[in-house]
Amino acid sequence: MTNRGIIASGDHARIEQHNLNLPQGALQAAVPEAAITRLNNLPALNSRVFKGRDDALAFLRALPSTGTGIVAQSVRGMGGVGKSTLALHHARDCLAAGHGPVWWLDASSAGEMTAGLAALATAVNPVNTVLPIDEAAEWAVAWLQGRSGWLLILDNAEDPADLRPYLGRLSTGQVLITTRRDLPWQDVGTPLLLDTLAPRSSLAVLQEITGRHDDGDVASLIELADELGHLPLALQQAGAYLAQTRTSAGTYLAQLRTDPAGVLATAPPGDAQHRTIAQLWSVTLEALRTTDPNAVELLRILAYCAPDPLPRDLLVPALSAPQAVDHALGVLAAYSLITLSETDVAVHRLVQTVVRTTTPHPSPDPRSGRLRRLLRRSRPDAPLHPSQTALVLVSLGLPSGEPEDVTTWPDWQTLLPHIRTTSAQQPATGATSPLLTTVLGRAAFYLRARGQSSEALPLEERALRATEADLGPDHPETAIRLNNLALTLGDVGQHARALPLFERALRIAQAALGPDHNDTATCLSNLARTFDELGRHIEALPLAEQALQIS
Ligand SMILES: Nc1ncnc2c1ncn2[C@@H]1O[C@H](COP(=O)(O)OP(=O)(O)OP(=O)(O)O)[C@@H](O)[C@H]1O
Ligand SMILES: [Mg+2]
Repeated sequence: MTNRGIIASGDHARIEQHNLNLPQGALQAAVPEAAITRLNNLPALNSRVFKGRDDALAFLRALPSTGTGIVAQSVRGMGGVGKSTLALHHARDCLAAGHGPVWWLDASSAGEMTAGLAALATAVNPVNTVLPIDEAAEWAVAWLQGRSGWLLILDNAEDPADLRPYLGRLSTGQVLITTRRDLPWQDVGTPLLLDTLAPRSSLAVLQEITGRHDDGDVASLIELADELGHLPLALQQAGAYLAQTRTSAGTYLAQLRTDPAGVLATAPPGDAQHRTIAQLWSVTLEALRTTDPNAVELLRILAYCAPDPLPRDLLVPALSAPQAVDHALGVLAAYSLITLSETDVAVHRLVQTVVRTTTPHPSPDPRSGRLRRLLRRSRPDAPLHPSQTALVLVSLGLPSGEPEDVTTWPDWQTLLPHIRTTSAQQPATGATSPLLTTVLGRAAFYLRARGQSSEALPLEERALRATEADLGPDHPETAIRLNNLALTLGDVGQHARALPLFERALRIAQAALGPDHNDTATCLSNLARTFDELGRHIEALPLAEQALQIS
């Protein structure tokens, strides 16, 4: 038996050439029609727990599946967000509704696609086993063209070129593509963008996998779901681990915070097949390291910012040219490693954690003149860690003008999470220490101006620690930080805690600057006011007099 006549091009060199000239009966199935509609090769679900995708499933269910001219649909989203699982649930629903065949294809390469279609050809008619693989694939395409109501899932598509030979021709049934890639897919409708789960659904995932539904467990499971950024793969990994090891969510969370690399690489015991978060982006990152090192460099910097949206403009000085930044961001978005809009960029917290814990230390990088100049002012030759570069970029993006200026407040509000995160990740001392205290000091100033002094407190405390570590406990800068922290404590009524700080600031100022310096006078009057607040007026009086004499 031969099917060689099915491709009119004759040489079979290009499967795009598809004018078919079929002998009578060449495309017949050897399987009864009733069995054809049940024909499928769907993989097993790897978890019975599936939450929060009702809208996405309803959207897929409403797509046309019979007729002609049906346009393929893609489902796009970051790794581990649940694209394949959604497609699988939809495919199972189609089968249950009597649509078929439903065929699952690995679309990660042209070769896998061809092999998958050839397998369909063989399943429909076993005589196709003798055909060369590309001819068998062509047989399957031609067979599908002759019927309606089928579903093909092209899972994990990587390159539009791999799909191009088929997509335009597969229009009498439904083609569903899952992909991480934001690329111009030809013959594909507007993608369905799949986001991480809503907090309510991710809590439900953890509760169901662990079987912990008690009220007492809810708070720690919510915290864990948050920490995992509501990413389904991470929730499954954590949930299975908790269930199998009888670990509490609180313990897991503590381990995750102290040893993220170890925890994210740990599959549940006895389940070596379980894909772990640590593996999720390793192939992509490895490939990008050679093809687009700038993109990896930028991602490393972004990994030390907050997972909240960051203004793109801030990143301009990070690479040698603004176009290089736009290109690198485009590459990262195309791999769904970041979420990119015209104005902002955001990185999922687990992508950040994995990048922070798995990518090696930075090599010298091509920075813009502005960034280089800024660093030279601090410590020119120290190799810069991406966390330090992140801080420098945030500092360059701070609103100019006084933080009391209300027109700058929206910008401060946007930058605040990034200020908090970048500053929390800085080494105790190093090239960016002076910058760290400036950034923290100004952010605290903004918060105090807005009447949020209690939020300013941790920033002032951190600024004090950094200045002490960098310049020593007796430096006049340390006195300024002590004063600012004490003033903030005063704002929130904690005068007793403020008092020893003001006293220490005064001692430093007197010793370092002399008894008649303006800063010494400021310390004296601050201290006097605090004694006053504490009702210790007798102690306040001489200090206030001394301050007056200086000024
Ligand atoms: N809605 C959901 N509720 C609970 N678990 C889910 C959900 N969606 C996916 N999962 C689980 O998350 C894990 C990852 O899902 P899946 O493999 O579908 O992700 P993906 O987006 O296809 O990832 P990749 O880009 O790596 O192919 C699986 O273990 C799956 O069971
Ligand atoms: Mg997938």
